[in-house]
Amino acid sequence: MEDFRQMKQRGEKITALTAYDYPTARLLDESGINIILVGDSVGMVVLGYQDTTAVTLDEMLHHTRAAARGVKRALLVADMPIRTYETPVQAVETARRFVAAGAQAVKLEGGVNRAAQIEAITQAGIPFMAHIGMLPQTVREQGGYRIKGRTQAEIDSLLVDARTVEKAGAFSVVLEIVIADVAKQITNAIGIPTIGIGSGENCDGQILVTHDLIGLFPWFTPKFVSPEARVAEEIRRAARAFIERTRGGGGR
Ligand code: KIV
Repeated sequence: MEDFRQMKQRGEKITALTAYDYPTARLLDESGINIILVGDSVGMVVLGYQDTTAVTLDEMLHHTRAAARGVKRALLVADMPIRTYETPVQAVETARRFVAAGAQAVKLEGGVNRAAQIEAITQAGIPFMAHIGMLPQTVREQGGYRIKGRTQAEIDSLLVDARTVEKAGAFSVVLEIVIADVAKQITNAIGIPTIGIGSGENCDGQILVTHDLIGLFPWFTPKFVSPEARVAEEIRRAARAFIERTRGGGGR
């Protein structure tokens, strides 16, 4: 965990991507990514749910075990799904189950409102990554995926959240869809690295959902993502080629 703080001090960017299965985790690991997150975004881009609020603990543990088998050198972080960290005791129990499944660190959504849970997890010796800004597990209450940091009150509360999670022992903090200047302000205000998603270039690192990066979920791509590949198109092309070859009497 100390490595990430040092990377921040050296101005060396931290890279993070999601993986929910063995081959993806192994490919990312072999590519030299710093952090692999078994995100609860699995619910949307793999399991076909509308948002992450339907994801269960058993589903997350299943995907964590699969990803863990593919990781040798990156840090494997697992997302604690909604309703599995209502109290500090429940948070530690859940975090321990992720560690038993192969995760090296856990993440949950929230700042000041989750300080007791975060402190309990870090006091139990489990490395913790925080997540503030837009919180997908509260998308229904918030009425959509809205950018954070638009008002002074929001900026102040993001800064308090960031300082609180650092004090509670987090080794890094994800900033999701935060106005770029505000993300920069937060990055300068704390000693732990900020990992941005849709929060501009001035964070200490960047994280993306791999399906968005490689074009594997073509029905929706967030505005802030520039895909590096079109994997969905390749799957369609290969499937069509197979169908044609089979119907044409091809044997293989
Ligand atoms: O679930 C997830 O993939 C995440 C990232 C978007 C940060 O939490």
